Amino acid sequence: MSAPAAQAPAHVAIIMDGNGRWATQRGLPRIEGHRRGVETVRTTTFAARDLGVRMLTLYAFSIENWKRPEEEVGALMGLLELYLKKELDTFVRDRVRLRTIGRTEELPAGVQRVLRTTIEETKGFTDYTLVLALNYGSRTEVVDAARAYAAAVASGREKLNDGSWATFSRYLYTSDMPEPDLVIRTSGETRISNFLLLQAAYAEFVFTPVLWPDFTKSDLAAAIADFNRRERRFGRTSAQLKPAAAK
Ligand code: FPP
Repeated sequence: MSAPAAQAPAHVAIIMDGNGRWATQRGLPRIEGHRRGVETVRTTTFAARDLGVRMLTLYAFSIENWKRPEEEVGALMGLLELYLKKELDTFVRDRVRLRTIGRTEELPAGVQRVLRTTIEETKGFTDYTLVLALNYGSRTEVVDAARAYAAAVASGREKLNDGSWATFSRYLYTSDMPEPDLVIRTSGETRISNFLLLQAAYAEFVFTPVLWPDFTKSDLAAAIADFNRRERRFGRTSAQLKPAAAK
């Protein structure tokens, strides 16, 4: 009997790590690693779609990344702006919707401008979405959501006693997004680093030693194959999930 058809996870989220080490191993400045990392962002965006993924979320800049040397932060913002300017035509041609999560209002004005344009021009494409987590941190997201929820209660739009996850989660940045099915972290680190902590409650995790600039479509396919070997139980027992156990 042939194996059941592999199903791609609808939403894959990636912690892109290892740009700095990739550069250091080659005696290059760290920013060269980030430059190569941008190339991997490009290839992975289309590789994921080819493999059947509907939404790809990339952790591009965390709230904590502001603590890096000013020169590196400036270079990352410059790369981001350049990347967005260059990709706009491609996104429109290839029907990629762009959206963001995070406190984007704190990003440099030039980055905000190109983000606004790209989001506006691609908002009609619903088959495939690239989500950039920019100035993102889960704890900040919870603080922002709690503040918005409290304001909604104060104004009478929400009732405090109706509090439930379904209600509260509407105040997260991800309110209109599906939860990630698969979270991948590159570079051999096995941390979550304040990324989608609540949304990944039932995600599968794949940690790969590959440094982000070296990450290829076959690495992504391998992570998806690993995902497909897992049994996702969402709190149930294995027997409950088997068709024979269904009543
Ligand atoms: C981690 O590598 C990666 C980042 C801090 C951010 C990822 C940024 C990019 C891929 C480039 C810009 C993004 C876009 C979308 C244009 P690291 O520097 O922490 O690597 P290290 O752990 O080896 O030092």
